[in-house]
Amino acid sequence: MSTCDTLIRNARVFDGSGTGEEIADVAIRGDRIAAIGPRLDFRAATTVDADGLALAPGFTDVHTHDDLYVIRHPEMAPKISQGVTTVIVGNCGISAAPVSLSGRLPDPMNLLGEADQFRYPTFSRYVDAICAAQPAVNVAALVGHTALRNNHMERLDRAATQIEIASMRAQLQDALDHGALGLSTGLAYLSATFATTEEVMELAQPLAAAGAVYATHMRTESDAILDAMHEAFAIGRSARVPVVISHLKCAGIANWGRSGEVLHAFEAARAAQPIGGDCYPYAAGSSTLDLRQVDERVKITVTWSTSHPEVAGQTLAEIAKQWQISQLSAARRLQPAGAIYHSISEDDMRRILRHPATMIGSDGLPNDPRPHPRLWGTFPRVLGRYCRQEKLFSLTEAIHKMTGMPARRFGLADRGLIREGYYADLTLFDAEKVEDTATFDDPIRPSLGIAGVWVNGAIAYNAQGPTRQRAGRFLPRGKTEWIQ
Ligand code: ZN
Ligand code: CU
Repeated sequence: MSTCDTLIRNARVFDGSGTGEEIADVAIRGDRIAAIGPRLDFRAATTVDADGLALAPGFTDVHTHDDLYVIRHPEMAPKISQGVTTVIVGNCGISAAPVSLSGRLPDPMNLLGEADQFRYPTFSRYVDAICAAQPAVNVAALVGHTALRNNHMERLDRAATQIEIASMRAQLQDALDHGALGLSTGLAYLSATFATTEEVMELAQPLAAAGAVYATHMRTESDAILDAMHEAFAIGRSARVPVVISHLKCAGIANWGRSGEVLHAFEAARAAQPIGGDCYPYAAGSSTLDLRQVDERVKITVTWSTSHPEVAGQTLAEIAKQWQISQLSAARRLQPAGAIYHSISEDDMRRILRHPATMIGSDGLPNDPRPHPRLWGTFPRVLGRYCRQEKLFSLTEAIHKMTGMPARRFGLADRGLIREGYYADLTLFDAEKVEDTATFDDPIRPSLGIAGVWVNGAIAYNAQGPTRQRAGRFLPRGKTEWIQ
């Protein structure tokens, strides 16, 4: 009889490929899946009875801002408690590396941490820090355009010069050489919005040879969203790389109901070039408090404010009323600050979530004292509310969006599927009970129904909570695969 370390018996196995399920046993040996099949004949050090439970590849959170949090809080409770085994950091143009701050920490890099926490002038120093931190989850990283701009530009309210672009490109190349997944931009933010399309195109040149991707928080997600999408697609074509549209949504009341139009443009472009997207399952966004997004008709909750910390948790309307000024003036007085914007229509969000080309990304903000509930709830919410209750998609499809699809698109080698020889990143959960419990009023709450989470073969989470085993690794870029 063969031996293994862990034998998971009688699970409903969803292999992550998006095709069906089977009742099977899964054997783990070391950090890999040793075998899959009905009634495996293995002698195991640990046997887990998974009768009635679903077993999936560990989830990949493709859109995170955990860059520095994962080093300071390697137990990664918000993510491991959802069944997430890999986080992709460096989204929205902001990354922890390569970064050399000369005093200034521009918005929204301040979402990642305090200035003194940015200690990684090269990408390889960041990789070393991840390895030293031994996080509970695996970490793969994009390089942020805004971070690069901030390294090489005196001021960010203009386009980069040719010389500056060359310096940024050299840093991007170095990061790609050390395993970065690709480049991200946050062109909507004031720290990057003055970058021209050509600046990004020229910076993106090294991506193709590396087989890397371009992920973008587009120039706008409101009125001119179609123009912003076309810009993103043009950058992808110019650089000859796949494009990931970050947190795809139609923002602002004037744009409610436009998801059909947006997805139509998305599909039309997908017929001609590799394009994907990610989204989170909530009708509200969150970021720094942006004066351009203040709209008296939209409920905006202030999550933090450096100048007025006492108002955290109140709505901008309440604050403005107390201060007897307009919401815009209040927002100005609160800077720098963070906010939750209830500015998305539920129907649009569902339609985008349901689209077969979207992956799941929490966009959670782990340093926020009153975070958007997506930080703790995204994955169980997709599985519970939107799959089981609302039936937006089958469980097979939901799991595929969180596992096989992201692993292929971002080049996470030997992950994202339950296959013999693949890494044993696995999530066991009760498909009838899995549910998010984090709410806007009470956002720091672990989900229900997650029964076991293995990362590189080690049990990181069980029904009692985190086990304190931290077996996550830095994941260098592997070969990406884009099937349209
Ligand atoms: Zn973003
Ligand atoms: Cu983001």
